[in-house]
Amino acid sequence: MRSLALLLAPWMFSTAAFPQALDPEALYKANCAMCHDVTGASRAPSRAVLQRASPEIILDALETGIMKEQGSKLPLPARRMLAEYLTGKKLGTQVPMAGRCEGSPPAFRMEGPSWNGWGAGEANLRFQPDPGIQPAQLGSLKLKWAFGFPNTGAVSGQPSFAGGRVFVGSVNRHVYSLDARSGCYYWDYEATAGVRTAPTVVALPGEAGRLVFFADLRARAYAVDADSGRLVWKVLVDDGPYSQVTGAPIYYAARLFVPISAGPEDGQTLNPKYACCKARGAMAALDAATGKLLWKTSTIAEEPKLRGKNGAGAEQWGPSGASIWSSPTVDAERGVLYAGTGDNHSAPLTGTSDAMLAFALDTGKIVWSRQLAGGDTFNMSCVTADTTNCPSAEAPDFDIGSSPNLVKLASGKRVLAVGQKSGILWGLDPDHGGAVLWKVAVGKGGKLGGIQWGTASDGTNAYAAVSDMDFVDPVYRPGKPLIRDPEKGGGLFAIQLATGEKVWNAPAQPCAGRKGCSPAQSAAVTAIPGAVFSGSADGHMRAYATSNGKILWDFDTAREFPTVNGVKANGGSLDAAGPTVAGGMLFVTSGYGNWGGLPGNVLLAFGVE
Ligand code: HEC
Repeated sequence: MRSLALLLAPWMFSTAAFPQALDPEALYKANCAMCHDVTGASRAPSRAVLQRASPEIILDALETGIMKEQGSKLPLPARRMLAEYLTGKKLGTQVPMAGRCEGSPPAFRMEGPSWNGWGAGEANLRFQPDPGIQPAQLGSLKLKWAFGFPNTGAVSGQPSFAGGRVFVGSVNRHVYSLDARSGCYYWDYEATAGVRTAPTVVALPGEAGRLVFFADLRARAYAVDADSGRLVWKVLVDDGPYSQVTGAPIYYAARLFVPISAGPEDGQTLNPKYACCKARGAMAALDAATGKLLWKTSTIAEEPKLRGKNGAGAEQWGPSGASIWSSPTVDAERGVLYAGTGDNHSAPLTGTSDAMLAFALDTGKIVWSRQLAGGDTFNMSCVTADTTNCPSAEAPDFDIGSSPNLVKLASGKRVLAVGQKSGILWGLDPDHGGAVLWKVAVGKGGKLGGIQWGTASDGTNAYAAVSDMDFVDPVYRPGKPLIRDPEKGGGLFAIQLATGEKVWNAPAQPCAGRKGCSPAQSAAVTAIPGAVFSGSADGHMRAYATSNGKILWDFDTAREFPTVNGVKANGGSLDAAGPTVAGGMLFVTSGYGNWGGLPGNVLLAFGVE
């Protein structure tokens, strides 16, 4: 502690600035708690989730990551102390992971069953036509192995399956390649920031090889060799201080399309003195072989300008926001790429927030845009105690967080099925500028409501799960964590794609009795012939019959699991990612401690016996 005291000397005596010197709890209370203790009301990971991180992840966030602004106010010894204190681990401690595959692995081949990328194909249908699992076999689905992600309490990365291997990223900054049968790992690639995008595996022609593409929470895209995990290229797609990638990049015709979100700037608005907001969403196209940027288009054409000052004297900038949160959908027939956007973070409102956008694949030009909610200038400050930075108290927060399903009906007509946080499932016409064919309300909608992370379409029906997460006493007050309401939210709908008519509705399964539970079905949905899978925030993964919504299988993931890699692991809330199915196996990531959910860190692999 001697050197620490010396290092602290210049500032520890200026008690006005650092009354909390040397007391890490006081450091946390004064610099972090205002956002990280706003459990349930803010995207900031809760203290329980921070506790599961490694001290390196915390330190990195404060030094070069999205917490740089907060970190810059603290001297290095204070940052280090906080990182070690919050995690209860020493910096520089390496915990070796067991479970590496023995012997030299067979060469990776792009053959056999697959679920590749977010939506299992360019049309992002989230439908597996050849799962190797019959609905009648679901009753005998067995857990084959579990893999624990070290240093995290929120797993939002969706696993991909190709060539008999599973590829999965984690907010712990690592991307893994596992053997699908045994769960042993072939490689473990360490990225610069957390990875929550579903990896995409591609065999490029010629020398370029078989590459795995993904992107991180600091807007870097990566290509690594599928066999060895060796880095082939890595590029910063957007250098904005608050840019990140949450939606999976999609590959088409030698290009990689990368959606960019400005989400982390939204979180800064919890600080009333923050000059909100300048960051805008974007779409970028890269040369898949080299990572070279071919085009990048902002979701908002207008540059942000100074608009005035807020009640705390901070500058106000706009327009901003219109993040792209989810994986784009390719329409080769029209030569366009579809992506949904989120709300504006500050005024003025733009026409491209909460909108479906069609980008030309070759130039990135926006060919059409269709706004699906109005008046949505929203940021996180709007739902907390200090609303100084809130542009509009009425803003509904109706982002489009789901990837659109591009469906060809038996009639030959095409439909773009788009779920929105408003609780509306939209049927848009991709062949007529996104004109509305039908719309149907399945939920109430709201901040964590409506349709959150993704629908599935099997050509006849779209399947939309309803989040509508709610809290027992939803009004936020400082120091009062929001408790999820065990009686509100959830449900699954089947909607006829040709007409928008409801076919059936499976009601939520209440979860009262389990601490912190919510029946909300926020996670993305996955369909196979005859069955549809939908995970709940209470930890249950269920399969429903596509014919009538009857529950065919129910597995509770919210418990501890022995793991193949020796990492202590448990499941929790199912959120964000959906399950993936291929080759007679089902892969589920469980645990999502954000927004007051049940933390966890496990990948579960099921198979039919
Ligand atoms: C003004 C609000 C605010 C303050 C103050 C704040 N944070 Fe955060 N923090 C956030 C939000 C919001 C996120 C989630 C950002 C996102 O992913 O959009 C976050 C994310 C993080 C992450 C995860 C980073 C990652 O790369 O995923 C860490 C670690 C973190 N904060 C640590 C801290 C620490 C330690 C402090 C105190 C020194 C602090 N934060 C202060 C709002 C805040």
